[in-house]
Parts: sequence; structure tokens; C-alpha cells
Amino acid sequence: MAFISSGYNPDKPMENRITDIGPQKYDKFYPPVIAKNKGKWLYHEIIKPGVLVHVAESGDEVYTVRCGGARLMTVTHIREICEIADKYCGGYVRWTTRNNVEFMVDDKAKCDALIKDLEGRKFDGGSFKLPIGGTGAGVTNIIHTQGWIHCHTPATDASGPVKATLDELFSDFQNHRLPAQLRVSLACCLNMCGAVHCSDIAILGYHRKPPLLDHEYLDKMCEIPLAIAACPTAAVKPSKVTVGDKEVKSVAVNEDRCMFCGNCYTMCPSMPLADQEGDGIVLMVGGKVSNRISMPKFSKVVVAFIPNEPPRWGTTTATIKRIVEAYAAGANKYERLGDWAERIGWERFFDKCELEFTHHLIDDFRDPAYYTWRQSTQFKF
Ligand code: HEM
Ligand code: SF4
Ligand code: SF4
Repeated sequence: MAFISSGYNPDKPMENRITDIGPQKYDKFYPPVIAKNKGKWLYHEIIKPGVLVHVAESGDEVYTVRCGGARLMTVTHIREICEIADKYCGGYVRWTTRNNVEFMVDDKAKCDALIKDLEGRKFDGGSFKLPIGGTGAGVTNIIHTQGWIHCHTPATDASGPVKATLDELFSDFQNHRLPAQLRVSLACCLNMCGAVHCSDIAILGYHRKPPLLDHEYLDKMCEIPLAIAACPTAAVKPSKVTVGDKEVKSVAVNEDRCMFCGNCYTMCPSMPLADQEGDGIVLMVGGKVSNRISMPKFSKVVVAFIPNEPPRWGTTTATIKRIVEAYAAGANKYERLGDWAERIGWERFFDKCELEFTHHLIDDFRDPAYYTWRQSTQFKF
């Protein structure tokens, strides 16, 4: 496409430059009923999965319809969302912290028409465009990352496994049969962008091979001390290497100490480690961020490795389904997955979910590992 200037002058880059203006103020985009009743809400009800009503002191009501969003969306799709908002909601719409889309209307009749419209919208492939759900004690959207769409450090994809998992758990997006809400998150490497370390179920991309060393370019591409300091297990040390007839500065990796975190590659482009067969998925469970009844918890590793199986990640989704079913059957009302696992004991959790317990799951990272071992005779056979 031919170049079209926006008015920016590359010869005078600082001229007419606007900076530090921040985001638009949020209240500019409030629907009138929200603006009017802000800070004066009395109570709310979940009318059915995906549909809420909030009632204000004034008696005003707001009906909210929550719809699944794929997070990665085209402008075409955003425009369709805007058309819906224009038609039913006076042009107002909002996104949730889990990337669902919420349409708000101020009376019941409009709400019913909106729901009917949303339910009818599908892509050519047959998937719902804006499936209604994600409220209450069910499964809501999966917080996820960039994967093979855009990042250079992933060990797995994000959008692909998320679609496969939500297809598997779709009925729980649209009902409230679980003991409590179940948060699923995914991160494609253990930088853990997002919420994997604090979710009921977490999908995490994992490597199993040490980095390759591009000695020829390493000193040209990398600040060597940074690569050394990047390693949590001190597996990287400086070294001199002969490439052809030249001696160059580089690093050496002690492969017995490397646990494939990929941090050194983040610092140094000459230490790539992605590998088709080596890379895969770790599953973690039992995290939460709220302080409802129990304190917030980290999620814990319960499956050490599942291979990447694009495009549908069958083993990953089947394992997640098994964990969800065991939790649904075993937990008490209001118990989050981590509350349940801690009450019944992790040894029971592995039984109930039919997960293999391997030595990989035993913490061996520094002094704190000791506190994850069992210093008690309290144990069930
Ligand atoms: C054949 C019989 C028994 C054997 C072989 C046995 C063995 C042991 C052993 C190896 C320990 C751990 C010691 C340590 O701290 O390293 C222990 C602790 C203990 N045993 Fe026994 N025991 C026997 C019977 C009993 C009986 C009959 C009682 C009480 C009625 C008893 C009460 C205790 C108590 C209170 C402890 C301390 C537990 C703790 O606070 O950590 N044991 N026993
Ligand atoms: S989790 Fe890792 S691979 Fe995924 S987007 Fe974040 S940094 Fe990139
Ligand atoms: S991958 Fe991680 S553990 Fe291995 S050498 Fe690099 S920084 Fe160290």
C-alpha cells in the first residue's frame, strides 16, 4: 500500500509532539444509569448464567450480559461489538478483567432482546461469537498470553490451547454447577505473564532442554554479565571459546545445573532453547487471589509434563477436564480447588484426579523447598 502520512514530520520528530496525556478518563464512557448511581448500589443478583442485575438506592436497575471474548480480536469483531452496543446499549460497552465483554441495559425487555440477538451470532465455522456466561460458580474466560502469535520466548502456544480448553469446558462457562468459581489461566513460558501462579488451574509452557550457544555471535549480541546473572541456578559462567581461528568471549552452561527456565535467552539472543519435542506443558492447580475464608494461595505443580499437541492439545484438555470433574464431585460448597485439595490432602487429590505423582513435583529449589516436604506423620495411605 502506498504511504499515507498522518501529518507526522520525520525531519522534525519533536515538532507538534503530544506526550504524557495518559488514558481517557473512565467516567467519560459510563452509561447514564451507571454515572447516575455510582457509589449507590444496594444489591445484585445473578439472574441466570451470564446475566446480572444491579439495583441502586434510587430503584434504578442495570442488567449486565457477560459474553465470552477470544481476547485476540479483529477490528471487524470490535466493530460488531460496537454495533450491538449501539443497537441496545446507547453505544456503551465494557471489558472485564478476564477479557469478557459486558453489555449493559437499563430495563428487562431490552435485556431479553439483547440476549436473543447475542445467542444467534456465530462465525462461519460454527463457533459462538459472543457466548453468554462466565458468572457465578462456573468456569469463566481463560487469562492467557501471546504464544506463537507474537512472543519469542514461548514453550507453547496461548490462543490454540485456550480455544481447545474452553471448548472442553464450555458447558461450565454457561452454568453454575461447581462448588465455587474456577479460574483457569495460561502462560506460554514461566515468565508467567498473567495469573498462572495464582489460579485454580494453570497451563504453563515448559522447556526440557538447555540453551544452545551461538558462540560466534554471543559477545556481539549479549551483555555477558547479564546472561550470567539471569540464571537462578548459577548454571551460566563466562568462558573463552575458539571459533574458527579466533578466540571469542562467550559463556558456558553447566547442563547439570540448568533447569531450562529460558531466563538467559530473555537476556541474551544467542542462547535460544525452544525445541519441538522438548517443549510442552506443565499443569498447576490450587491457586487463588481472593482472601475469602482462606488466604490467597499459589498454584502448585501437579503434572510435570504433557507434550505440545497442536492444534487441539488433547492430553492437556482431557487432564484438565478430569481435574474439574473430580473437584466438582468432591469439593464442598464455596471451596475453591485449592481449599479442597488442602482439606482432603494432596495425596488424596492425586488419587481423585488420577494423576501420576512423579519426583518432578517435589520442590528442590533452595532453602524454602524444605518447607514443602512433610514434617508430620499426618498422612493417608
Ligand atoms: C514397637 C513399638 C514402638 C516403636 C518401634 C516406636 C518407635 C518410635 C520412633 C522410631 C520414634 C521417633 C523417634 C525420633 O524422634 O526419632 C517414636 C516416637 C514416639 N513414640 Fe514410639 N515407638 C513404639 C511405641 C510407642 C508407644 C506404645 C507409644 C505411646 C504410648 C509411643 C509414643 C511415641 C511418642 C509420643 C513419640 C514422639 C513423637 C513425636 O513427638 O515426634 N511409641 N517412636
Ligand atoms: S508468558 Fe512468556 S512466552 Fe508467554 S507472552 Fe509472557 S514472556 Fe512471552
Ligand atoms: S535456561 Fe535457565 S537454568 Fe538454564 S542456563 Fe539458562 S537461565 Fe540458567
